[in-house]
Amino acid sequence: MGKLIIVSNRLPVTVSKKKSKFSMQPSVGGLVTGVSSLDMSGEQVWIGWPGITLSGYSTKSDSQELKDKLSEYNYRPVFLKRNDFENYYQGFCNEVIWPLFHYFVQYANYEKSYWDSYKRVNEAFSQAVLEVAKDDDVIWIHDYHLMLLPELIRKKLPKVKIGFFLHIPFPSSEIFRLIPWCAEILEGLLGADLIGFHTFDYARHFLESVRRVLGYEHTLGQITLGNHAVKVDTFPMGIDYSKFSQAPDTKEVQLSISKLGENIKEDYKVILSIDRLDYTKGVPERLEAFDYFLDKNPSYKGKVIFIVVAVPSRTEVEHYRLLKEQVDNLAGRINGKHGTIGWTPIWYMYRSFGFDDLIALYSIADVLFLTPLRDGMNLVAKEYVATRKNEDGVLILGEMAGTAKELGEALIINPNDLQGTAKALKDAITMPIQEQKRRMISMRGRLERYDVKRWAHDFMDRIGHIKEVQKQLTSKGLSQSRRNKLLQSYSRSKKALFLLDYDGTLMPFNERPEKVKPDKELKDLLGSISRNSKNNLVIISGRDRKTLDRWVSNVSNGLVAEHGVWIKEKKSWETLEMLSDEWKEEIRPILEVFVDRTPGSFIEEKDFSLVWHFRKVDPALSIVRVGELKDVLLHITANLNVGVLEGNKVIEVKDTGINKGKAAMHLMSREKWDFIISIGDDWTDEDVYEVLPEWGYSIKVGFGPTKARFNLPSFREVRKLLKDIIETKT
Ligand code: UDP
Ligand code: G6P
Repeated sequence: MGKLIIVSNRLPVTVSKKKSKFSMQPSVGGLVTGVSSLDMSGEQVWIGWPGITLSGYSTKSDSQELKDKLSEYNYRPVFLKRNDFENYYQGFCNEVIWPLFHYFVQYANYEKSYWDSYKRVNEAFSQAVLEVAKDDDVIWIHDYHLMLLPELIRKKLPKVKIGFFLHIPFPSSEIFRLIPWCAEILEGLLGADLIGFHTFDYARHFLESVRRVLGYEHTLGQITLGNHAVKVDTFPMGIDYSKFSQAPDTKEVQLSISKLGENIKEDYKVILSIDRLDYTKGVPERLEAFDYFLDKNPSYKGKVIFIVVAVPSRTEVEHYRLLKEQVDNLAGRINGKHGTIGWTPIWYMYRSFGFDDLIALYSIADVLFLTPLRDGMNLVAKEYVATRKNEDGVLILGEMAGTAKELGEALIINPNDLQGTAKALKDAITMPIQEQKRRMISMRGRLERYDVKRWAHDFMDRIGHIKEVQKQLTSKGLSQSRRNKLLQSYSRSKKALFLLDYDGTLMPFNERPEKVKPDKELKDLLGSISRNSKNNLVIISGRDRKTLDRWVSNVSNGLVAEHGVWIKEKKSWETLEMLSDEWKEEIRPILEVFVDRTPGSFIEEKDFSLVWHFRKVDPALSIVRVGELKDVLLHITANLNVGVLEGNKVIEVKDTGINKGKAAMHLMSREKWDFIISIGDDWTDEDVYEVLPEWGYSIKVGFGPTKARFNLPSFREVRKLLKDIIETKT
């Protein structure tokens, strides 16, 4: 096992420079507190931005000094120029991705220069990773700043294990696709082996975006792209439970608690909220709800205080500055309205706290009051619960936080519901102690079981698992030695039969099937093979006779149309069996109804089959319609001699007596072949592989389950193989 390389925009420490001296403060935010509490065995490196731009360490010796300082902790800094930093971090990360992923669509600012810097900075991170990464390392990339990184690294180190975890929500595909560069972002992420999200909903949205934007399907969260399988899964991030639950007993925290106690009257009920001052956290809504609560419950005046800790964050981004003004004003207004000489209702602090003071605040709070409008997870909620050793205290939590999915025993509110939120405050303050304990015990149990270590180990386990799946996928790969054997056997042969499927095997798919004419390269390849007198090259396809005649008759020695209905060995088309097409009259009207109800779909009519194509249909709708159509057809075809088959984005109804395998048998019986190769890409080709002699070469394009002996990733590799065959001496 190699080392673990953690990559995130922010290092666990933020560097600043005062009077030409560097100093380091712990960084704030869920990602850093969570990931840095991991104590994984083995060698580790953390690569990230040190929190200061190039102008802060203008000389070479400056940057070396910083590098040396950080390397003591195994941190490797990525240095960014001021301009790139502004466009990448403030711009693309915090003016495009952050607002959009938190459903603040109107805040997004799609500047092309932001995107350009985002790409450049992701490149710079990939350089930094490649300087230290080896094939047997695990690279764990974190968060929305680095979504292009998985693919950039994969290109250079194809075998290395790459995990990606998103710490913020992934929005609905309708929101995500507003980003002009959404396809590139998805491709970037899919370079990873494993992509993790906090909640099932985020994972679902991601998979849907991949399907809608890129057209890639998934099976139970696994997306298979050639021989690369990517797993998408849910890992709700935990906290270092034992550290937080033990912390209130330490001397330092006790000291901090007693200092706080000096200023807080014994009979006050303490409400607390802590978050970065971010518009996603719903701070104004929270203050308004508190105001409303005091209006409606004047008896609590002078008996409750609300400690509001707002940690400065992204102060150079305009919406954060505006929010600061808004919150300052609101807190002032509410205090002015309700406060008295001896009582200030809101204790508003615009600053951050170190660990001990934070625990002290959690310890003295009767109620933790969090009202995010959107939040990937919200670790503050979990930390509060973990520190409540006496099992008392009440958590109020906005339902749009990832944590709300796990901590159902909290008082869950909709932050936009002013009255409901104010009522929750009253319920929290008056909640009987038994009820508080019942809820707290259950939440604490869950957080203790699924702590941050378990989270990280689960994630690592799943990377290992998906690597195993990838190995199996490639077990039928046409390795160099297998390929050499194939070429040798072709070179020794006297009579060679080629059974080649067309769509998806020799040509890529297209939304409009009539556009898939053979290109010059393909015609040259097929022509060279079919002109050699020892070869018999047959295109064995589901297409109709006319199309095959037009496109490939002069570069092949034979054709099979409509999945084996028609065979053309010399000049004329023949059928192998007596077939009927009378059933079409019954089936066509049904398919027509489905076409009308399903935008983007159409019917293809062949001599002995009807095909309903749905490649252009909305993927979610197509799942529903395919189910419905299969159900209807199953009943109707029960008394007919026809079968219903599902192919690559098609449903085909055809005579049950026909398949490509029968046509292949017929062709094989014509000569004494000593080399046979069959290449195809879907289920209709499986019938051919089945009838091939054991020594025959059956090859499936793609990596699903197959009876074929070998796999090739795509039509490109098929063409390469055909080229090798042509170049083989015979
Ligand atoms: N935090 C801190 N000092 C503070 C306030 C918060 O260290 O003064 C930490 C807090 O302990 C938590 C993190 O910052 O671990 C905030 O994470 P959360 O998931 O709640 O929100 P985020 O900032 O990631 O959106
Ligand atoms: C959230 C993000 C983190 C980020 C943190 C603080 O937790 O998920 O990636 O580090 O906020 O934000 P900042 O912009 O200061 O790094």
